[in-house]
Amino acid sequence: MFKSINPTNSSEVIATVPESTTAEILTVLRKAKNAQKGWAKLPAPTRGRIIANVGRLVEKNKDELAKLITKEMGKVYTEALGEVQEVVDTCDFFLGEGRRLYGQTVPSEMQNKNLFTFRMPVGNVFVITAGNFPTAVPSWYIVPALLAGNTVVWKPSEFTPAVANALTSIFHAGGVPQDVLITVVADGAQTFAALESGLKEGVINKVGFTGSTAVGRKIGAKTGEYIQSACLELGGKNPMVVMPDANIDLALDGALFAGFGTAGQRCTSLGTLWIHESIYDSVLTKFAALVENAAVGDPFKDVLFGPMISQKYLDNHLEHLKMIQSHHKVLGSTSTGRITSSNSRKGFVGDPDKGVFAHPVIVAGITKNDELYSTETFGPLVTVGKFSTLDEAIELANGHGYGLSSAIYTNDPQNVWRFREGISAGMVSINNSTSGAEAHLPVGGNGMSGNGSRQSGIWVLDQFTRWQSMNWDWSNKLQKAQMDLIEIKHDPNFVL
Ligand code: UN1
Repeated sequence: MFKSINPTNSSEVIATVPESTTAEILTVLRKAKNAQKGWAKLPAPTRGRIIANVGRLVEKNKDELAKLITKEMGKVYTEALGEVQEVVDTCDFFLGEGRRLYGQTVPSEMQNKNLFTFRMPVGNVFVITAGNFPTAVPSWYIVPALLAGNTVVWKPSEFTPAVANALTSIFHAGGVPQDVLITVVADGAQTFAALESGLKEGVINKVGFTGSTAVGRKIGAKTGEYIQSACLELGGKNPMVVMPDANIDLALDGALFAGFGTAGQRCTSLGTLWIHESIYDSVLTKFAALVENAAVGDPFKDVLFGPMISQKYLDNHLEHLKMIQSHHKVLGSTSTGRITSSNSRKGFVGDPDKGVFAHPVIVAGITKNDELYSTETFGPLVTVGKFSTLDEAIELANGHGYGLSSAIYTNDPQNVWRFREGISAGMVSINNSTSGAEAHLPVGGNGMSGNGSRQSGIWVLDQFTRWQSMNWDWSNKLQKAQMDLIEIKHDPNFVL
């Protein structure tokens, strides 16, 4: 049995759910696979209407769902509302796609012949997601996958099973048949074993995974063995570059939100704040003051961030604190580590001893050779460093090999275009934070952040459909492509 615990109040159990074994996951995968052909036969506009129903039901249950998110994984309630809105936005985008899902008509090189393309569903999709966005990120997979005629087996994070079950019941209430979307809660080892057997048996035709680079690498390798490529959305060490001409207050607002929102547990969270050397000291001082004075605590109150998702996430954060070296300057709070009544944080909102709260940490003086420069910390820890030229900033921003999100604050268009061209990240913000992508632009990363797959908007359709090309020759004779050429009369030596 999995017990999900309220990270704000560890004595409160939110849900106790059965833990599926590998054999049980496989049974579910087979069930969904069997349902796929029938689901794909439903006209796409009808599937779009079902997605519309789901969107309206999520909207109707927005407060309840957001409350459950805040209780089960601890993000601030206003952020939880935003997350649920992202599910609504995703449904709103894809309900219309049911009436498009366009293929093309393509001219043939021969007469009396026509060419076409069709989008075909890939089959049964295994979606594995993390606990930091327990509804929005899963919806990026589930909604387009269903719309395109696939079935889905969803393995949510074991830390958010109540949210996962609530969202699944909304999909079913909206008209998605029980076998077309099935949710299973399981641990990593059972899931991976089921993934391997499911791929072998042919009951998994596509994998969608959001989580760590280490696990993504294993999933990518395993799917590769079965001639599949998973849709991978992995870690990041997202840089934010502040140029001397930037609106500094705006940049600091962005850094605070991106660095510490969701307690730094977003894949788009700010990794390193790179400040131009001419303004380094003053910007760092202001940033430290903002973080020191920010309210931390009960996520139902007006705070910058609440608890870590669970004890496991807090433990990881504590490990990362060990990477701080003597040449670093630590700022941002009255202490570091877990917040408790004896390791207190000025102005803490609530009772820190009841939950898994962490002090925000700024580690200033980061250099390229530091372990923290290239480590995704996934907690309330922001590293800060300085640069002298934009070229150097771009090199530092790319040098760790991650490439998910990035930001630059500047008022000079030359800097904007040079940064956009030079940065290796899949997502670039100009005068905006690294977090907060809109639901209809491509989401995804490069290098250690992903294998080139993109989610959201029309781009994700290439993950959940395969192109089928058709040629229809109605000439009643065998016309041979590349051989039966139409002769073109022309003069290749012509000059004026
Ligand atoms: C993630 O953390 O996996 O852009 C996704 C953002 C959110 C999604 C984050 N809309 O920060």
